[in-house]
Amino acid sequence: MDKTEFGIVGLGVMGKSLSLNMAEKGFKISVYNRSGGDEVQVVSDFIKENQKGYTILGFTDLQEFVMSLKQPRKILLMVKAGDVVDRVIEQLIPLLSKEDIIIDGGNSYFKDTQKRFEALKDSLIHFIGCGISGGKEGARKGPSIMPGGSMGSYKKVANILESIAAKDNDGKPCCVYVGDDGAGHFIKMVHNGIEYAEMQLLAELYALMSKTMDNEAIAKVFFNWSQGDLSGYLIEITIDILKKKEGKSYLLDVILDSAGNKGTGNWSSKEALDLGIPASLMVSAVFARYLSSFKQERVQLSAQLGLKRDITQKLDIGILERAYRFARIINHHQGFQLIAEASKNYGWQINFPEIARIWTNGCIIKSQFMEDIATYFKTTPSLLSNKHIFEILKSSEASCLDALQYALANRIPSDGFWTAYNYWIGMTTAQLPANLIQAQRDYFGAHTYKRKDKPLGLSFHSNWKTS
Ligand code: 6PG
Repeated sequence: MDKTEFGIVGLGVMGKSLSLNMAEKGFKISVYNRSGGDEVQVVSDFIKENQKGYTILGFTDLQEFVMSLKQPRKILLMVKAGDVVDRVIEQLIPLLSKEDIIIDGGNSYFKDTQKRFEALKDSLIHFIGCGISGGKEGARKGPSIMPGGSMGSYKKVANILESIAAKDNDGKPCCVYVGDDGAGHFIKMVHNGIEYAEMQLLAELYALMSKTMDNEAIAKVFFNWSQGDLSGYLIEITIDILKKKEGKSYLLDVILDSAGNKGTGNWSSKEALDLGIPASLMVSAVFARYLSSFKQERVQLSAQLGLKRDITQKLDIGILERAYRFARIINHHQGFQLIAEASKNYGWQINFPEIARIWTNGCIIKSQFMEDIATYFKTTPSLLSNKHIFEILKSSEASCLDALQYALANRIPSDGFWTAYNYWIGMTTAQLPANLIQAQRDYFGAHTYKRKDKPLGLSFHSNWKTS
């Protein structure tokens, strides 16, 4: 039998969808899934269900799978991030030859990817850590793909990855070589950090509106916004979600208000802390999810507090719209600032306009704003340094404050809007009280401070005791 061009390990939802996407583009592929426990039938069922003219060979034996591939072999791992990736790599290595290529397409932690990249260098096996966004539908119809590793390795698989990727408005693939070692997974991680905050903002808007409006009415507001510059995948799915009914009631209303997570928002936030970048929206979105998970305590404390407030103030939808635009800009600005710092820190030379471009289609945070960002980055290094963006923030600051005042008056938690507002007023305040922090640090720890009236290269320490 002829050898195939590409192999996929792991037939979960994403693995299956990517396999079909590839097969549909005319690639001859092999797929592998283990056959233990309740996975006995996974491969045979997949092959049975997908025989319409595709060349897909199915395996439950890893060695046979590897042998079915043309050399240099190209193998995409779509397995659970973490130890499983290491275990599969360990099993594959003895079966592979030099110049073969392993691509990890899961949501792996970028520091694990850096380690794997280094470890595999000596064995002359290429390793590509590849972020893939778009969920099941994106994977099937065209995801956004963020590959990292060596440029040489990428070139060997570029053809396949670019064929299955989504296309931007100019028909270019939403797949580009991102940078060395873990850069691809880093970019996917920050994508998710931005995603967490975008989801949180929509959830807060839903909370603000739901006090006085039903789901259908909220969906209408989102629909109107989605006709212009606020359009995007997340607002579109939110409209569908708000409208979905089970019998006579809305499905959303019976979903437990306790948000889960798989770790990427947490990693992005930790990285922001490590690199000293105040990417506060993603951090607050992670904390908002964590707080939501304390459901029992919230129910108990809420009963204990026993507050019942009638909404008196009128909710102004125009104010919410401007506040939403404002907070989204801050969120995207922070995400790209984090990427900029990481690029410097890890020596990745990340191309901003290209990252924004490959996020204009296929991925979860695709939006009209992302298309605008891709254009802005061609001429400005950061969103806040773009005059047009600055003017929007300046003119919508008051609306964010109004939305927050409504939220506070009605005890509606609004971490995202609150954080965006504070970031903006902090960043546009020339004198912050950090002089006091410096003095306190110097007082108890002799950490020294700089003076505004002396060269910044000099450090000072004082004896602060006044008596
Ligand atoms: C994507 C998504 C995808 C997944 C995340 C989110 O870009 O396609 O981000 O990767 O939905 O894992 O997961 P959590 O919200 O569970 O952390």
